[in-house]
Amino acid sequence: MAILITGGAGFIGSHTCIELLNEGYEIIVVDNFSNSKPESLKRVCEITGKSIMIYYLDLLDSESLEKVFLVNQIEAVIHFAGLKAVGESVKESLKYYKNNITTTIIICDLMQKYSVKKLVFSSSATVYGLPDTVPISEEFPLKALNPYGRTKLMVEEFLQDIFISDNEWSITILRYFNPIGAHESGLIGEDPSGTPNNLMPYITKVAVGQLKVLNIFGNGYSTKDGTGVRDYIHVVDLANGHVAALDKTLKSTGVNIYNLGTGIGYSVLEVVSAFESATGVKIPINITHPRPGDAAICYADPMKAEKELNWIAKKSIHDMCADSWRWQSRNPNGYKINEELENPRLIQSEDFLIPNN
Ligand code: UD1
Repeated sequence: MAILITGGAGFIGSHTCIELLNEGYEIIVVDNFSNSKPESLKRVCEITGKSIMIYYLDLLDSESLEKVFLVNQIEAVIHFAGLKAVGESVKESLKYYKNNITTTIIICDLMQKYSVKKLVFSSSATVYGLPDTVPISEEFPLKALNPYGRTKLMVEEFLQDIFISDNEWSITILRYFNPIGAHESGLIGEDPSGTPNNLMPYITKVAVGQLKVLNIFGNGYSTKDGTGVRDYIHVVDLANGHVAALDKTLKSTGVNIYNLGTGIGYSVLEVVSAFESATGVKIPINITHPRPGDAAICYADPMKAEKELNWIAKKSIHDMCADSWRWQSRNPNGYKINEELENPRLIQSEDFLIPNN
């Protein structure tokens, strides 16, 4: 029996593949590589010494996806695949509804048809909108501020309806706070296309000399130093949260929702200074206007995941900065490989399967 992982080549997906392989799970990845590279999965195989079955297909292609269910024994699905850029979602909302909602309906429909009723879904702290207080617990009121957030909220809602119509389902919804960091090997990490929207990849691009200065979006918030406060979580901790969530999903039925965060808030200036002290690289900054839709402070109450999943985030902000930098400095162009690096690498998995052959 295998775990099907959609979007397994992405930032969080690839780190989760490693932890699942290390735990002995057999995994099958489905990815269209629209915002990721197959190279990340080759490196997952290199790090773990294990192989992965990879299907290069788009989740909107339901016929091909059905073949994956037909020819494999799938026990559960972890659904990472989706679009995640807030600004783009405002400009191209239909694309977001099609990619984030329709694909999830297609997957759930196939899961129902093939009696695979165990699902872990990637949601986001974005579903809390602009929270009135912190720390944020799972019972806080929900609000979408943009089409991206609305897709996460809508999927969360219809997943609950799926369970109401069929109590055999076991669904775990994970609300991520701000994932940063990278695998300690420095071989895999976050590889955004174009100019990064998020803080840590922007900082590492400045550090590596590809961007000149970090623009800080406002220093007039009611926070410790006026800059925005977030709950940054190491992506390897987050990946382990998925392993814990999967274990529970496999053993139970129902819909369970968990925050995955550290419970600690750091300001933008604190992250910059943690990065500088972890790496010795100075980050030039420029204070600019607040970004529309940004909350002042956002951090998790992670107690529910600790109690029910027996999971806790362990890595410090220093680890997050050091690991982000190890990845970026060793891979200044992300997964765009230069030949002499690629050739000596042992590749364990070459099964790039197109299901209709
Ligand atoms: C953002 C998204 C959120 C999404 C998450 C995914 C917005 C408004 N929110 O969250 O919906 O789920 O990414 O990872 O886009 N900052 C700067 N300069 C920069 C970049 C960021 O000052 O160049 C600041 C921001 O104002 C914020 C903090 O850094 O205070 C973190 O920003 P970011 O990494 O973009 O994450 P979120 O805004 O929390």
